[in-house]
Amino acid sequence: MSVSEVDLRPVSVPGPVPGEEPRTMAVLRRERDTLLARIEAGDPNGVERQHELGKRTARERLGLLLDEGSFVELGVFRRRGEAGPDTEGRRPHTDGVVTGTGTVEGRRVFVYAQDFTILGGSLGAEHASKIHRVMDLALDAGAPLIGLNDSGGARIQEGVAALDGYGGIFRRQVAASGVIPQISVVLGPCAGGAAYSPALADFTFMVRGTARMYLTGPDVIAAVSGEQVGHDELGGADVHGGRTGVAAVVHDDEDACLEDVRHLLSLLPDNNLSVPPAEPPTGAREDVRPRLADIVPVEPNKPYDMRDVVAEVVDDGDFFEVHEGWAPNVLCALARVDGAVVGVVGNQPMVLAGVLDSDAAQKAARFVRFCDAFNIALVTLVDVPGFLPGSAQEHAGVIRHGAKLLYAYCEATVPRVQVIVRKAYGGAYIVMDSRSIGTDLSLAWPGNEIAVMGAEGAVNVVHRRELRAAADPDARRKELVADYRERLMHPYRAPEEGFVDQVIDPVDTRAAVADGLALLRDKRREQPRRKHGNLPL
Ligand code: HXC
Repeated sequence: MSVSEVDLRPVSVPGPVPGEEPRTMAVLRRERDTLLARIEAGDPNGVERQHELGKRTARERLGLLLDEGSFVELGVFRRRGEAGPDTEGRRPHTDGVVTGTGTVEGRRVFVYAQDFTILGGSLGAEHASKIHRVMDLALDAGAPLIGLNDSGGARIQEGVAALDGYGGIFRRQVAASGVIPQISVVLGPCAGGAAYSPALADFTFMVRGTARMYLTGPDVIAAVSGEQVGHDELGGADVHGGRTGVAAVVHDDEDACLEDVRHLLSLLPDNNLSVPPAEPPTGAREDVRPRLADIVPVEPNKPYDMRDVVAEVVDDGDFFEVHEGWAPNVLCALARVDGAVVGVVGNQPMVLAGVLDSDAAQKAARFVRFCDAFNIALVTLVDVPGFLPGSAQEHAGVIRHGAKLLYAYCEATVPRVQVIVRKAYGGAYIVMDSRSIGTDLSLAWPGNEIAVMGAEGAVNVVHRRELRAAADPDARRKELVADYRERLMHPYRAPEEGFVDQVIDPVDTRAAVADGLALLRDKRREQPRRKHGNLPL
């Protein structure tokens, strides 16, 4: 697609002046080139200030994100308002956003990059309309959309027209949700309602020091409540990467951030009707991984790093972790097994012993739903002592948030393989993709412990009266605990009853997962037709 095909608006190039050279095609071409070069160069003072702030310009960013020479700009000549002798300086071309299409590793994407050097990248009607245009094209073409945000928010002088522009972005984002991947990259301010755009995206990236995102900034907060808080402390990258969960990935600098966006795109499909690009299979059928026998201690309470297990299961030990800093008690990552992209969800015994809590449930639920929407098979690595007990969690809504994870798995129709590497207790066992909620293949290691609760707790509940009456309660408790372990928690209890399909040698996990995914490759399952379910939000 060329610019001339899509941008048919008149260009405000100066007309012929009597006495000057005649308007030949050569002159028209030169005038066009000159205007284009001026627009692309931007205001030198603005560019200098942008660099002083430690930020790249919108065009430099697109240069880093896209394959070299692939960018086709759309709407470069667009500007707001009527031409006139007094308005020229107030009608910058592009209206503060560079929009268009390009490729990443040869695959089509649509992009917009807000240009802070023009009216602070603020969003008015023309600016918004350009973004709407690329969003519509992305959805029609079935290609990912990437927005680079660096903006003062709604253009104050345009009033409700600016707010209307934001509404148009949000509506399109929701319409495109689950149809094309949407990535938001916050590289400067992203204030007010503008923050809902990254919040609606599938993955949001932020850069430390320059990116900041909040509904109301420090000045408004101070005026309303007297609270004094800095920009970074209020809505910097670490706040959203570690506390709110809005940012999936956080980086120290823009270059590394944009490189990482390219990496993520390599693991995503173009749209919901395609699959992520596969690498050639690694032929791992008899792939034995001796390290897997040593990483996980047999003692159920000893910590270890689940990332070490993931690295042994996926191709080349390479995985893309999302929300690394938020709810690290659960791990969510995209990776490849035998060349095909999978989503890995795993409990992380290194943090809070791997319990599930409100944040972990929300993090994993959103990840599972993303994978399901985009045809990415799920591999769930289970080692979970349960949900985190306590009034803080109960009052934070752990029931509602835990239900989201349950809902996400129950709804998922992609191939699903569960591997119980050690313990799996109570509701957390069910929620972590158990057979009962629809996993396709349940594998367990020989040290698995699956039960309603731990032996001590169970004995105290079930045998309370007997223990109270016992001559030596401690000795009796020991006997009962041993009996409970033997009868209800031994590693072949769940396989005997059919809740686990196979007990595998840990060293064969990679091969077993690869085999399972291969046999499920053509899985087809439809959910009943409905307008939409009622996810417990
Ligand atoms: C119009 C704006 C603007 C805005 C910045 N500018 N924000 N113009 N509307 N929202 C202009 C400035 O006037 C300035 O113009 C230029 O952009 C650069 O801004 P500076 O303030 O000089 O830059 P800096 O010091 O880096 O501060 C950046 C900033 C600050 C923190 C973003 O500009 C700021 O606080 N802006 C207002 C943020 C805000 O409250 N936005 C509205 C949020 S409400 P000149 O001509 O001097 O270069 C909202 C509602 C959306 O967005 C609702 C959607 C549903």
